[in-house]
Amino acid sequence: MSEKRRIVVTSALPYANGDIHIGHLVEYLQTDFWVRFQKMCGHECLYICADDTHGTPIMIRAHNEGITPEELIARSHAEHLRDFTDFEVEFSHYGSTNCQENREFCNYIFKKMEDGGHISSKMIPQLYCEHDKMFLPDRFVRGGCPSCGAAGQYGDSCDSCSATYPAEELKDPTCAICGRQPVTRSSEHLFFDLDHYRNYLQQWIPGHTARDVANKLLEWFGEPLRSWDISRDAPYFGFEIPGHPGKFFYVWVDAPIGYMASLENWCKANSEDFANWWNNPKAELYHFIGKDIVRFHCLFWPAMLHCSGFKGPDQVFVHGFLTVNGEKMSKSKGTFISARTFLDHVEAQYLRFYYACKLNGTTDDVDLNLDDFIGRVNSDLVGKITNLASRGAQMLHKNLDGRASTPDPSGAELINLARSRANAIAEAYEQRDFSRVMVEIRDIADQANQYFDTQAPWKLVKTDPEATRAVLTSTLNLFRIMAIYLKPVLPLYAARVEELFGDAPYTWDDLNTTFESRPVAPYSYLAKRVERAQVERVVEASKSGTAPSAPTAPPPAKPPAPVKETIDIDTFSKVDLRVAKVISAELVEGADKLLRLSIDLGTGQPRQIFAGIRKAYAPESLVGRSIVVVANLAPRKMRFGLSEGMALAAASRDGDLFVISPDSGASPGDTVA
Ligand code: MSP
Ligand code: ZN
Repeated sequence: MSEKRRIVVTSALPYANGDIHIGHLVEYLQTDFWVRFQKMCGHECLYICADDTHGTPIMIRAHNEGITPEELIARSHAEHLRDFTDFEVEFSHYGSTNCQENREFCNYIFKKMEDGGHISSKMIPQLYCEHDKMFLPDRFVRGGCPSCGAAGQYGDSCDSCSATYPAEELKDPTCAICGRQPVTRSSEHLFFDLDHYRNYLQQWIPGHTARDVANKLLEWFGEPLRSWDISRDAPYFGFEIPGHPGKFFYVWVDAPIGYMASLENWCKANSEDFANWWNNPKAELYHFIGKDIVRFHCLFWPAMLHCSGFKGPDQVFVHGFLTVNGEKMSKSKGTFISARTFLDHVEAQYLRFYYACKLNGTTDDVDLNLDDFIGRVNSDLVGKITNLASRGAQMLHKNLDGRASTPDPSGAELINLARSRANAIAEAYEQRDFSRVMVEIRDIADQANQYFDTQAPWKLVKTDPEATRAVLTSTLNLFRIMAIYLKPVLPLYAARVEELFGDAPYTWDDLNTTFESRPVAPYSYLAKRVERAQVERVVEASKSGTAPSAPTAPPPAKPPAPVKETIDIDTFSKVDLRVAKVISAELVEGADKLLRLSIDLGTGQPRQIFAGIRKAYAPESLVGRSIVVVANLAPRKMRFGLSEGMALAAASRDGDLFVISPDSGASPGDTVA
């Protein structure tokens, strides 16, 4: 195997003022595939992300909801993380741009820009709403297009004729917040003089992103690069610029710096040195982004980093946009589908599988055709791949005591053929050509099915049980190889396959091992067909603005569970309840309900417990929290390790979970009664 690499990978930071939707997932899923592949190969690979929390839209959204921006971003953070977790996206750290580390990085970088003479200031006119007492960003002004006259256009461009223009040129502009007419006002803005980095960027761009992306960017270099307005006036939810009271960093300044802050947060939590990850010439840094935010990542960002002495990304991987049934996502057609709505009706692993089939590492848009989605999942994942496991394992159990032998010669040949694809598949993963990976796997599946049908083990078993055992052993090995290849795309699925074969978590090296002369576990669920009705429900639930929703009465509450049999006080006092502090919490690979907690019981000796609360809590939300545990529960050996205690949580009648915490003041080890 090649030398161990150290890699930092990011996805763009989603805005905190909206839900994660299936368009976003095009990005977060492919990044997750790539990171998981690297980890499977034994490389050190971090997946860093965060919520993008600053800016006017967030401020206004919070205002409209009657909450503070901090409350809004805390809620979004929890929701986003839950959506990602349920889509099997595994971050090393998921932070927030609204943190102290980010403020410090911003100040540091800005100082370098200012000291280096790259900041200038200029008075600029802008629309100002005297009622709301704020300057209006382009998206918060509506008016007639100065070019074609179409009404109701935004302050930056016209949806009707595609013209772009300054907001002050809109005809009869109105404030999108209060509907009143804004005035034009001038104020001083700070600019980053990008043209100082012209030569640097011109050289940098071609080597650091795909050719089509680079060519488009280089078109800007025919004339001087325009200076970038990096300040916004108060009121603004963000970081005030040091030395410039009342001026705030434009959100696009502190957002990419948020990559650094989030990495720094990971470093702090893991006693690692930031410089060893970011500025280490041997470490690699990659940004996954959508094509709409290329200029921020390939012009401003490398210039900011270069100016302040930080290493730039090794590559910026740009992907296209999601279309659904060939069109832009649409609220009225029900194709603007939030991650949560999808999860309500369809398993996450199917979207992962489908996106993998479609993504090829280019900037081409990706189409989610809903009929094709159903077809691919049912015919390929379920019909061709999963069926091999279910039929193979079930036949082995039904007729042959569930024990594998060794592959027969023709099966062994196919197994070697399947293994010989490892380099091609690894290369496709590395290139983010996931569709190529899936084509290779489908090929293996086709061969395996052909083999299975030719050998006809269901007939063979009547005359030659041992030959049948060998055939089923071959079939299961072919399936096992496919599951290893699929693991970056379908981690939960692969974890269940590990359980089926009684294997340790798969790494790429496991392709070289053969499952033989061992029992296979009874087949348990891996995947089942997607029904059209499920997908229809997703679309139906995503339709909005069609029918006014009548206020509905809340559903009747379910009765509480009956109280258990009475116990006396002596029995109760045998239970040693204690306050514990959560030192760390993490996901448990292969167990979709569990979190692994390391807790402090005041003894100086951390304890490990497994808690079935993954659905309800993001691991990082528990760290540092005081909880209540049963301290004298007999330790229980689980597949993932020893569980030494139990965390208490309330369970609602709808299955929601609420961890129990003492009021503040209680310390680890305190008794609870
Ligand atoms: N907050 C900025 C990114 C700051 S990064 C320093 C932002 N947020 S976003 O929520 O609008 O988008 C996050 C990522 O999701 C972006 O890379 C964006 O391109 C991607 N996508 C958002 N909608 C998408 C589709 N419909 N299709 C594919 N990707 C999409 O931009
Ligand atoms: Zn207004």
